[in-house]
Amino acid sequence: MKIEFELNGKPICLDAPADRRAVDLLREDLGLTGTKEGCGTGECGACTILVDGRSRLSCLMLVPQLEGRKITTIEGLAPGEHLHPVQAAFVRHGAVQCGFCTPGMVLTAVDLLARHPEPRHDEVIEAVSGNLCRCTGYQKIVSAVMDAGNTPPMPCSRQEPAPDPPPNGLRNAGRPGGTTAGSPVWMPRTLEDLWPLLAQYPQARVFAGGTDLLVWRRNGKIDSPALIGLERIDALRGIAETPDTVRIGAATTHEALLADPLVSRHFPVLKQALRTLGSPHIRHVGTIGGNLATASPAGDTLPPLHVLDATVTVQSAEGTRHLPIASLITGPGQTALMPGEIISAVIIPKPAADARQHFEKVGLRQAMACAVASLAAVVTFDDTGGIDRARLAWGSVGPTVVRLPEVEAALCGGRLDQKTLDALRPLVSRHLSPISDVRAGADYRRRVAGNLLLRLADDRPTRQATADTVEQAS
Ligand SMILES: Cc1cc2nc3c(=O)[nH]c(=O)nc-3n(C[C@H](O)[C@H](O)[C@H](O)COP(=O)(O)OP(=O)(O)OC[C@H]3O[C@@H](n4cnc5c(N)ncnc54)[C@H](O)[C@@H]3O)c2cc1C
Ligand code: FES
Ligand code: FES
Repeated sequence: MKIEFELNGKPICLDAPADRRAVDLLREDLGLTGTKEGCGTGECGACTILVDGRSRLSCLMLVPQLEGRKITTIEGLAPGEHLHPVQAAFVRHGAVQCGFCTPGMVLTAVDLLARHPEPRHDEVIEAVSGNLCRCTGYQKIVSAVMDAGNTPPMPCSRQEPAPDPPPNGLRNAGRPGGTTAGSPVWMPRTLEDLWPLLAQYPQARVFAGGTDLLVWRRNGKIDSPALIGLERIDALRGIAETPDTVRIGAATTHEALLADPLVSRHFPVLKQALRTLGSPHIRHVGTIGGNLATASPAGDTLPPLHVLDATVTVQSAEGTRHLPIASLITGPGQTALMPGEIISAVIIPKPAADARQHFEKVGLRQAMACAVASLAAVVTFDDTGGIDRARLAWGSVGPTVVRLPEVEAALCGGRLDQKTLDALRPLVSRHLSPISDVRAGADYRRRVAGNLLLRLADDRPTRQATADTVEQAS
C-alpha cells in the first residue's frame, strides 16, 4: 500500500505491505537501526519511537497506522551538531552501558519532559517502567532524565549525518514482517466506513490499540486474513456523562481514562486498576474495549466494571444492543459478540458519592505484571455506618471474574472492620477454584484472594493510595 508520513522532519511517501510492522519498516526497509527490537511483544520498550511527539512501541504498530503521522526515531532527535539535552544528560550521568535500551529510553524521556518539564522522581520511574535496562541500572537513568533540563549542550561526535530515507522505495520492500504478510489492513475513520468492511470480510479481526492482537499475531496465535483498525474512528472514543451515568467510548485508551476527571470523581476503583495495567506505553494505546473483548481472567478493568454494574453497548450494521458486563464475557477469551458486532461503549452508573471503592492487584512485580489475584469492591453504608450493600469481584482466580454472593450477603449489616473480614476469609477460599499456572499455584491464589479482603478495612496506604497522595500534594 502507498503511505505518506513525516519521518524525522522530512515528508516521505512509500509503498509497503500493509501488515508490515513499523519496527521492520524503520529498521530493515529504511535502515534506521537506532530503533531496536528486543521482545517484539510490547514488554521491553527498546522499539520506542515518537508518533506526533508521544512515545509509542513500533513493534505494536502496522504500516497503515503511520499514515499522516510525524514520526521521530533516535536518528532524527538531534540532527544538528549537538546532542539533544536528554542525550547529553545520559552521557553526563553515565546512564548508558551496552546502549541497547538507550534509544527507547531517551525517546520515552523526551516525551515525558515535553509534557512535564520538571518531573518528580516517581514520575520519571513510572515513565520508564515500560523500558527495560539490563545493564546500566535505573538510578543513573532516572538522574539523567531529572537533570536533562540543566545539562549544558554537548557536541555530537557523530561523523555521519542521519541517513535519509531512500527516495524511491525501500531496501527490503515486501519482506514479510509477521505471520500474515500480505494481509490487508484497513483504518476506517467512521462507523459508516466500518460496517461494509466487516460485511465484506467476515473473517477480519478488528483491533484498537493492538496490545493484545498484535502480540497474538506475532506469536502465531492468530492468522487473520484481514485486520481492521478502530483507532481513527472518533465515534468510538471519548467520555461523557448524564446525570446518572458515564459513557465511555470503547476505543478510549487507558491513559485517557486515567486523565479524565469524571473517572477520578466517580470511579476510583477503575482508576486504581488502570494504574496497575501494563506500562505507560501500553496504557497510551490499549483500550477499554480491547480489554473487555480479550476477556482475560486477568483483565484489570474487568473486576471494577463488574462491581460498578457496567453495561456494554454492542453495535453492528443491524443495530445496537446492551449487555450487562457479566453476560458479555462468557469464558476465558470468549464473549457473546456475534460476527459483525463490535463493542462501541461502556456505560457505568454513578455510585453513591460516599461509597467505599477499592482495588488491589497482586502480581509478580510492580510494573507490567499480570494479576496473580485481584479484588475490586464497592461498598455502601447505611446511616449507622453498617454495610448496606457490598459488591466484590475477584480477578485471575477463575475462568472469568468471580463474584461471591455468599460473601457479599454475609457482609451486609455488619461493619467493615478487620474482625468481620477476617472471619470471611475461609468462605472466600472455600468458594474459589483457581488454576495453577506459570504465575502462581492454585493454593497460593486462593490464600491471596482471601487476604485481599482484609485490605478493604485497611487504613495503611497501599501503593496506589500513596501515589494518589503524592499526586494531590503536588
Ligand atoms: C506488555 C503488555 C502488558 C500488558 N499488561 C496488562 C495488564 O497489566 N493488565 C491487563 O488487563 N492487560 C494487560 N495487557 C493486555 C492489553 O494491553 C489489554 O488487554 C488492552 O486493554 C487491550 O486493548 P487493545 O485496544 O490494545 O486491544 P487490541 O489488541 O486492539 O484487541 C484485543 C482484542 O479485542 C478485540 N477488540 C478490540 N477492540 C474491540 C471493540 N471495540 N469491539 C470488539 N472487539 C474489540 C480485538 O479483535 C482483539 O480480539 C498487556 C499487554 C502487553 C503487550
Ligand atoms: S521490541 Fe520490546 S516493546 Fe517493542
Ligand atoms: S544500557 Fe544495556 S540494556 Fe540498558
